[in-house]
Amino acid sequence: MIFVTGGAGFIGANFVLDWLAQSDEPVINFDKLTYAGNLNNLASLKGDARHIFVQGDINYGEKVAALLAQYQPRAILHFAAESHVDRSIHGPAAFVNTNINGTFSLLEASKVYWQNLPEPQKSAFRFLHVSTDEVYGTLSAEDPPFSETTAYAPNSPYSASKAASDHLVRAYHHTYGLPTLTTNCSNNYGGYHFPEKLIPLMITNARSGKDLPVYGDGMQVRDWLYVNDHCSAIRRVLEGGRIGETYNVGGWNEQSNLSVVHILCDLLDQLQPKANGSYRDQIKHVTDRPGHDRRYAIDARKIEKELGWKPTETFETGLRKTVAWYLANDEWVSQVQSGDYLKWVSLQYNKNAEVA
Ligand code: NAD
Ligand code: TYD
Repeated sequence: MIFVTGGAGFIGANFVLDWLAQSDEPVINFDKLTYAGNLNNLASLKGDARHIFVQGDINYGEKVAALLAQYQPRAILHFAAESHVDRSIHGPAAFVNTNINGTFSLLEASKVYWQNLPEPQKSAFRFLHVSTDEVYGTLSAEDPPFSETTAYAPNSPYSASKAASDHLVRAYHHTYGLPTLTTNCSNNYGGYHFPEKLIPLMITNARSGKDLPVYGDGMQVRDWLYVNDHCSAIRRVLEGGRIGETYNVGGWNEQSNLSVVHILCDLLDQLQPKANGSYRDQIKHVTDRPGHDRRYAIDARKIEKELGWKPTETFETGLRKTVAWYLANDEWVSQVQSGDYLKWVSLQYNKNAEVA
């Protein structure tokens, strides 16, 4: 079986669902259930004996150690993190606590577990760390995309904490021999995406008649990766990745934020037209994010060449599926848009004066 951390979050839940759709190998899903963790993401696995959910914090090393001893997983896939840049600007402590200290505790428990495994389980064991392209910092329009050898230059508390976790993973491989693999991927999108991030926020705000808050001029560029393509990349790296290596995962799909919002509005205009006008009328330029990285772009040739992985969705097909998912899942949306979510929206957006 495999041990997944953060499997109730956006990417983790998509990964668990995808994994169990393709194989019968059981999953221990260890998740703290922060505001971003949502058991509704896993509702379709109710009663499925292949999915064992355990609520807990990766900082609680003894609990992790006990679970590893009990279930003897062949791999640990580490998704758990605080993941939202804007939240890291308001409250960086949680990011240091989970992304750095939590990853350290998890590595310690994993190292002891791995060291005591008999052969051949010891040689087959893998620790796969899921990270981000944001550790590489920002690019200008002319720069080549990030490769695995680009120097780390994180700019936000979020990316700095992820960079620190990547360094710890690297150190546990080089110092102790822990068989690690690291993936650095670009911005994911798809179903079950918490509506604090750009794409789900724009879809849900558009549909409820609210402003579509574009930071600054909206010309910041991101590479977009459909979440199921990310899941297939992780499976491929787990299966065939070289121990100690890092793999960049991207969608070969650079878009400015404004262009993403325009495409979403146009899709909604087609799929759920408003009585009057276009969803584009709701776009509002608001105060920019402090320290906002201008451009991310991923050179994904290494994973393509070494492991034969390529994304299967284009932005057009992936966004269509994503918008359709949100249109079909009103109940999921209304459940997550409560409590902490409302507090966050008020903190983040009420202060953002309109600039254009
Ligand atoms: P998410 O915020 O949606 O989910 C994170 C999950 O981790 C939640 O279920 C949460 O409850 C859990 N968690 C948080 N702190 C925990 C702790 N201390 N112990 C145990 N569980 C804890 O995040 P996501 O978007 O699914 O991202 C998953 C991973 O992928 C993260 O490591 C993130 O840095 C990385 N990543 C995400 C993106 C993206 O576009 N979403 C892009 C690149 C990399
Ligand atoms: P986000 O989804 O938060 O991902 P990240 O910051 O990790 O790339 O944001 C994606 C881009 O969209 C980023 O450049 C910030 C921008 N953005 C907005 O313009 N408005 C918003 O309300 C949000 C949440 C993001």
